[in-house]
Amino acid sequence: MAITAADLRAMKAGGQPITMVTAYDYPSARLVDAAGVDAILVGDTLGMVVLGHSSTVPVTMADMLHHTRAVARGASRALVVGDMPFLSYQVTPEEALRNAAALVQQGGAAAIKLEGGRAVASTVRRIVEAGIPVMGHVGLTPQAVHQLGGFRLQAKTPPAAQALIDDALALEEAGVFALVLELVPAPLAARVTERISRPTIGIGAGAGCDGQIQVLHDLIGLSGDPEHDHVPRHTRRFAELGKLLREAIAAYVQEVREGRFPAPENAFGGSPDLRAFVEADRAEGSRSTRVA
Ligand code: KIV
Repeated sequence: MAITAADLRAMKAGGQPITMVTAYDYPSARLVDAAGVDAILVGDTLGMVVLGHSSTVPVTMADMLHHTRAVARGASRALVVGDMPFLSYQVTPEEALRNAAALVQQGGAAAIKLEGGRAVASTVRRIVEAGIPVMGHVGLTPQAVHQLGGFRLQAKTPPAAQALIDDALALEEAGVFALVLELVPAPLAARVTERISRPTIGIGAGAGCDGQIQVLHDLIGLSGDPEHDHVPRHTRRFAELGKLLREAIAAYVQEVREGRFPAPENAFGGSPDLRAFVEADRAEGSRSTRVA
């Protein structure tokens, strides 16, 4: 049975930690689904970790639809949440609803996520009233990176902390089923978690949230340079797949260059008829070559 937005709310009520991770394509969706995560976010981080942009700002609805479809095909149990890209929901609530509906109808997502607090509360309400579960996202909102001046810790002062609590309460009131808290001090995240009835899903927000989300490529060592990049404080590499993949591909390159791949067992001998044909053609070919 697929997990629903309502199930995540029940998990908060039951004190059961919620696990969430991003995925952007069919094979990774199958893997994270089989690993038992509760929810998969088709995050607009795909712009950075898959498409090579330096922020999530260039990501389009077409990108999100393409990747959400692939993930939805690969996930059978986890809740699939499609991320609304920059400017797909900020212009008017009607346009936001149409784009949210596209992620569900055409993309196969069961819920959507968008960034922002009180400024997007009426948009959230519009989408929820149409029957689409919405996940909120406050703290560091990467689509506003140019306004925030970088990917850094948010809500560091008491007035900023109060503003974040007000945003969270407004989103709860607007009907979000869960709320991502990104890069906020752990005590503040824990306090928001106490104050709202919907599950908080933290990333760089400490252990006091109801659940955790991480970018898949950070967890498995596929983001950045596997040898030299420093691992950001909010994440942990549970595997070094980047290093493993580079070694595997280098081994392939070397074996092809040395004539060790493909080996006889990697090739197809063909039928006796086929081999006889090839031999005859070779003999004919060498006669033609001699004549020429
Ligand atoms: O796009 C994304 O992957 C996200 C998570 C980091 C929460 O928004």
